[in-house]
Amino acid sequence: MNESCSIVVLISGNGSNLQALIDHRQSGGFEISAVICNEPDAYGLQRAAKAGIPTVVLNHRDYTDREQFDQQLIKCIAAFTPQLLVLAGYMRILSAGFVQHYHGRILNIHPSLLPAYRGTNTHQRVLDAGDLTHGVSVHFVTEELDGGPVVLQVEIPVAASDSKESLSRRIAEQEHRIYPEVVSWFCGGRLKMHNSSVLLDDKRLPEFGIRRTVN
Ligand code: GAR
Repeated sequence: MNESCSIVVLISGNGSNLQALIDHRQSGGFEISAVICNEPDAYGLQRAAKAGIPTVVLNHRDYTDREQFDQQLIKCIAAFTPQLLVLAGYMRILSAGFVQHYHGRILNIHPSLLPAYRGTNTHQRVLDAGDLTHGVSVHFVTEELDGGPVVLQVEIPVAASDSKESLSRRIAEQEHRIYPEVVSWFCGGRLKMHNSSVLLDDKRLPEFGIRRTVN
């Protein structure tokens, strides 16, 4: 792949990760061909419009079931012929058919050290469990919810004084650093999903990807 690697970003809300991708698209060697959102009022749509990126709203409430919605999503994405789909706070479960259609070409970012804390409300769950560390993971998407092979994780310490809000802020800071980085690896042809593992520069990564630790 070359510098014009096209990605489509799927969002549902604020879009701060989308903003990080917008800010790093040139240096990262990728272009954002479209932003697709299932929530009509999502702030991320304004971020995309401000950056001159085409937006599409596909409201899932207008469809009778997940399969029908995802089929429409596939049609919509096809118009932009992306090499990669990037889920950036896209809060809908994807159907098996959708994931198979884009096999090895969907990345997601999730606010936990996977495989811990799949699903939602991760910061509060980490606090409730009294964990000493928390983190974020970028992973390839498979049919298993938050279960695909991990590319990169950043671990942060949890202090006694931390709240859900402070954790959310510190996790977001890390997300905005690593997501554009991983997308640029893929777009540079360096990153691949092979069976259920991840290859970076043709080398197989450890089971839960590369782990970085920040203090
Ligand atoms: C991010 O923290 C992302 O990791 C999380 O949603 C937030 C979206 O923020 N994604 C998930 O929980 C997916 N399971 P943003 O809209 O400001 O980018």
